[in-house]
Amino acid sequence: MFRYAVVGDPVSHSKSPLIHSLFAEQTREDISYVAKEVDAQNFDDFVVKFFAGGGSGLNVTLPHKGRAYKIAKYREPRADNAGAVNTLFVNEEGEICGDNTDGPGLITDIKYNNGIGLGGKNILLVGAGGAIRGVLISLIEEKPAAITIVNRTIAKAAALKSKFSNVLDIEISDYETLNGSFDLIINGTSLGITGEVPPLSIESINSQTCCYDMMYGNKDTAFVAWAKDKGASEVFDGLGMLVEQAAESFLRWRGVRPQTGEIIKALRRL
Ligand code: ATR
Repeated sequence: MFRYAVVGDPVSHSKSPLIHSLFAEQTREDISYVAKEVDAQNFDDFVVKFFAGGGSGLNVTLPHKGRAYKIAKYREPRADNAGAVNTLFVNEEGEICGDNTDGPGLITDIKYNNGIGLGGKNILLVGAGGAIRGVLISLIEEKPAAITIVNRTIAKAAALKSKFSNVLDIEISDYETLNGSFDLIINGTSLGITGEVPPLSIESINSQTCCYDMMYGNKDTAFVAWAKDKGASEVFDGLGMLVEQAAESFLRWRGVRPQTGEIIKALRRL
């Protein structure tokens, strides 16, 4: 039996143990996967002991993704670009390695589950925190026509613009001066936690605009409800992204990528 866990604080709400147990059942992999609530002070110690004790892999969620990035001795380039790690494993030498599967998870969900192409699109990213930083390189690699980042704190958007200036000239804006409409709007702010929506003008949405919320919930998230109300052509929440990033972690750990379609549907029914 190979041992895995998701580490966060809080973590009791996490759907990852259920998702990975469904993956294991489907692929007949012999794994256990549990949720561990560990605070920031004890995080490093927990990770080191987990692997020293024979654990095979960890998912890392808020607020530890930055710390996991620092613990990893080797990192995938996409984790370096994200400045965050959500998947830990050990190499043959027993050294702790880090990956970030959030970007591929988002792209797979948008492109393959929802059928929305990204190449040549005019994309608006809402927010400039860890959620957006974590997926930015994956979005850039899809070769959109343009990416605009809108954020309350413009300095954080400017930092992302400068970090990725060698690969794409990202536009940045505050909410007040944001102009025009977009093919795809992705919400990566934390406002949904309190049921709020970012202060976007309805002019950002035209009848062709798709909206995607990186958050998910049992009912429509605030952003999903807002986008539907404002007439977006298609609206998605982040449940598919959650399952796809998990599938990408599972692939990294077990060498097999689970089929996700039925599992996403099953989670929707819960
Ligand atoms: P995370 O790492 O989880 O993304 P974060 O770094 O705190 O968390 O980022 C949260 C995002 O939500 C940021 O873009 C934040 O805007 P600021 O960079 O200006 O803080 C955005 N956000 C949070 N509360 C907000 C609010 N009341 N109005 C507008 N944006 C908000």
